[in-house]
Amino acid sequence: MEKLVKISPSILAADFWRLGEEIERIESAGADMLHIDVMDGHFVPNLSFGIPVVKSVRPHTHLPLDVHLMLSEPMKYLSAFAQAGADGITFHVEAEGDPVQIIAAIHRMGKRAGLSLKPGTPAQAAYPFLADLDMVLIMTVEPGFGGQKFMPETMEKLSQLSRYCRERGYSLDFEVDGGIDPSTAPMAAESGANILVAGSALFGKPDYAVAMEQLRRL
Ligand code: DX5
Ligand code: ZN
Repeated sequence: MEKLVKISPSILAADFWRLGEEIERIESAGADMLHIDVMDGHFVPNLSFGIPVVKSVRPHTHLPLDVHLMLSEPMKYLSAFAQAGADGITFHVEAEGDPVQIIAAIHRMGKRAGLSLKPGTPAQAAYPFLADLDMVLIMTVEPGFGGQKFMPETMEKLSQLSRYCRERGYSLDFEVDGGIDPSTAPMAAESGANILVAGSALFGKPDYAVAMEQLRRL
């Protein structure tokens, strides 16, 4: 089947007791990459996991590691995540530091650079950086927790950004993250998303291949 969208399962929703098995199952179910949510308890009001998890996972999967840094000071940790085996590193425009420098640093490390926008951040905040980016991540919930309700009001921003890039001939990936399930995925894809992050709509479901197929059915 031709893939209209790529699926990036968020391991935040996995059973950590069986993380290896969970990743094997999601990879054989057809995941295109693995989404790794890193939280510092400061940029977002929650903690998750970090560098050692990326390092432990790296040798055991063929999937690209799509690392989402919800950190106040992303610049400090880029090289650690790059060395641990991240393939793409996404940071927030609302975080500290100059995005131009952060993007350049990620590229110097040979990784794909992504910029993320919280629901309340306007599209314009990303405009100055789009020419240099590999991906834009539109948060469709407030970052910090899995299992929240999709915010449809973020779709206007996604369409605006994808239109802006199309008009200028920029070819970026557009990823959406938060509350993506079979009922919200079509809206996101229609608004321009080509990578869907999904945590609770995949992990914990009885059949991961079936759950993934339902997300791809737009
Ligand atoms: C939220 C994270 C998401 C989250 C998505 O801060 O960035 O990646 O794990 O979880 P679901 O798909 O359950 O909304
Ligand atoms: Zn995420």
